[in-house]
Amino acid sequence: MSWAPTSRAQRILGAAPTLCGVTRCGTTVTLRTPRFADAGEWRRIRLADQELIEPFWDHSELSWPDRHTRGAWLRECVSARRRMRNRSGLHTVIEVDGRLAGQCDAWIDLFHCRSELGLWVASRHAGDGVGTVAVQLVIAYLFEDLGVERITAPIAKGNTATARIAQRLGFVCEGVMRSYMSVGGQRRDHALWSLIRADWPRTSTSRLTAR
Ligand SMILES: CC(C)(COP(=O)(O)OP(=O)(O)OC[C@H]1O[C@@H](n2cnc3c(N)ncnc32)[C@H](O)[C@@H]1OP(=O)(O)O)[C@@H](O)C(=O)NCCC(=O)NCCS
Repeated sequence: MSWAPTSRAQRILGAAPTLCGVTRCGTTVTLRTPRFADAGEWRRIRLADQELIEPFWDHSELSWPDRHTRGAWLRECVSARRRMRNRSGLHTVIEVDGRLAGQCDAWIDLFHCRSELGLWVASRHAGDGVGTVAVQLVIAYLFEDLGVERITAPIAKGNTATARIAQRLGFVCEGVMRSYMSVGGQRRDHALWSLIRADWPRTSTSRLTAR
């Protein structure tokens, strides 16, 4: 796993660092800044994987296709860059073999040194460890470069794959937040998983790759 420290240029431009890691199968996972040019591929994958993603994604009054227009992506990129400029977010796309394969985001409250994660991975990589490595990279960056102390992940009941990622990376389930948010068209209970800085050395890269 490798990453470059946050540079002044990255902060001014609202860019994410480029982070790289390797899955247990030897696949290289790269996280980088979202680009306008990702619009077509993002739309194609998200429409194809609606059944996988929508049940656990924030609700919207818009239809799934209407949420995935080129304009929607451009707005998402602009917001992501604005948050990265003021250090209230770390927003990345996941690439595998040079192709877009998902997104991994962190919303950051630097005043309280805490962050909340978001993630999706294309179904063509399901179970390959791409999501686990992406989250691991973002966690390392939040703890080691941004000084975050606590990271949370609200996970809807029934979202087994995401709960497995949290568990494998050492997150602790603090309890259930009832009717926490509307995902997939209905309000759902979400388990609150958290990882604090003191937990992190115990969940280092060596433990993951040794699996
Ligand atoms: C959840 C998600 C990100 C997992 O990505 P991924 O790259 O497949 O995750 P990994 O390969 O790292 O797998 C993590 C674990 O989940 C398991 N897993 C993967 N897909 C699974 C599925 N459909 N059902 C059950 N378990 C699954 C893996 O086997 C692995 O378990 P293990 O550690 O026991 O081997 C992806 O399925 C996704 O985008 N889902 C829809 C969006 C979503 O739920 N986002 C999170 C919102 S909180």
